[in-house]
Amino acid sequence: MRLPLPGRHIAACLAVAALLSGCTEPNKSKSPPVASERGAQLFKERCAACHPDGGNVINPKKTLHGGVLADHGITTPAGIVARMRTPGPGMTRFDQGTIPDADARLIAEYILATFR
Ligand code: HEC
Repeated sequence: MRLPLPGRHIAACLAVAALLSGCTEPNKSKSPPVASERGAQLFKERCAACHPDGGNVINPKKTLHGGVLADHGITTPAGIVARMRTPGPGMTRFDQGTIPDADARLIAEYILATFR
């Protein structure tokens, strides 16, 4: 079936959203994420052991650099938070009790603002 362009965009977006809930916040016409002190600190404490400088010591193909994340369908803070909640093989799972949503979001914004 051939959909008109906006329809195709929405369809693609919904497919990604189903996986990552990445469509809950349109990132158009929104200011880019900002790296906060707290986000940086939490990243250092929770993530940097495996992701030093936005790299990945366990799976070098899964770094946190913007272009790499985008290739893997992660373009928003929500997409990164989703990965913390439901990680892939080799990554620690961070649930709400470990890193509450507000902090998870600060970490995600720090990542998007810092690693390009
Ligand atoms: C024990 C090591 C480890 C820790 C700690 C860890 N990660 Fe990961 N991370 C991984 C591995 C291994 C992968 C590849 C598997 C996957 O895609 O989930 C990964 C993948 C990711 C990805 C997807 C990267 C891509 O290019 O697709 C994101 C986003 C991510 N981690 C964020 C985080 C955040 C945020 C934290 C801290 C809250 C964190 N990780 C802590 C090991 C870790």
